[in-house]
Amino acid sequence: MMKQKITDLFKEKFGSVGEMFASAGRINLIGEHTDYNGGYVFPGAIDKGLMAMIRPDGSNTVKAYSMDYDQFAEFGLEEEDKPEQQWACYIFGVCREIIKRGGKIGGFETVFAGDVPLGAGLSSSAALESTFAFALNELFGCGLDKFELARVGQSTEHNYCGVKCGIMDQFASCFGRKDCLIRLNCKTMEYKYFPFNPKGYKLVLIDSCVKHELASSAYNKRRESCENATAAIRRNHPEVECLSDAKRLWLDEVREEIPEEDFLRAEYVIGEVQRVLDVCDALERGDYETVGEMMYQTHFGLSKLYEVSCEELDFLNRLARKCDVTGSRVMGGGFGGCTINLVKEELYDAFIGEAVKKFTEKFGHAPKIYDVVISDGARKL
Ligand code: GLA
Repeated sequence: MMKQKITDLFKEKFGSVGEMFASAGRINLIGEHTDYNGGYVFPGAIDKGLMAMIRPDGSNTVKAYSMDYDQFAEFGLEEEDKPEQQWACYIFGVCREIIKRGGKIGGFETVFAGDVPLGAGLSSSAALESTFAFALNELFGCGLDKFELARVGQSTEHNYCGVKCGIMDQFASCFGRKDCLIRLNCKTMEYKYFPFNPKGYKLVLIDSCVKHELASSAYNKRRESCENATAAIRRNHPEVECLSDAKRLWLDEVREEIPEEDFLRAEYVIGEVQRVLDVCDALERGDYETVGEMMYQTHFGLSKLYEVSCEELDFLNRLARKCDVTGSRVMGGGFGGCTINLVKEELYDAFIGEAVKKFTEKFGHAPKIYDVVISDGARKL
């Protein structure tokens, strides 16, 4: 349906048709705020994403139409041509980052639309970046590999959107594969696909619909805390390149030297890196109870040590416990967005019913429920 609408609109705006590309949002089972610390993450692409029809037109400008915003933007490919609309900045950033890497791209026309809920922590922006990075690389024969395409998206966030994010989201939307989660070592970029099809369980996201204004500056601040802690540890242990290299004991050694806040952030990260490995082991044994328990531990850490949760998400997490949900935690960067829940099929209806009812009573608006299916990432349709 989305495909048809995009095609129709493209014809209407630009006269004929182009080629169609797509990419996906992502979930992350465990391993949060570990990516920019060189640790492990465990994401997968989902069945909600973004589609774009694109046609190079031999010009030097980009003419883009966002169906979701019902807005048109036109901009050139030179550094000073940065467009006003935020959504267009992502496309502009991707173009600039490909050009910086030697890709010879020209102007094009595009119409795109997506169904990743915005601000829910499902990486709608990575879906947008990956779709265009993948597509432009194909259409203009730039010869970048998938790692580089993920970095194009990440650098777009850093240089054009003010978020000093890690590589997880763009990696997941470039490398995503149906029915698989991907364990990625963000230091070495080694990765492994894990088939994920937990029989008898469902993965469900509950969106608090809370969005915090200052999320990107708070995110960047977390990153700085981790860098401070790492620098202190490195004075004693020069081999430590990133926080994930540090042992818990080494962090304790510098406790008095760094602000308490930085200590707590680092304490969380060191624990979380280990939890990803424990979850992968548990999955291979089919031990979903352990997977779930680790998710609760992550939530505790994100809420009390890393402090990226909020009242609404803590409420959903406690409610999950009460409803005997196997695992539950805030997902993504935090400061609003979703909890991810691993729930036994037979408990699913009761849990969702209770969550919607109790949440609405307490906060005056209903949460949104998303069932997710692990799907393919960036591709040509
Ligand atoms: C955001 C960032 C990612 C990652 C997560 C937290 O989604 O874009 O790089 O740091 O937050 O795990």
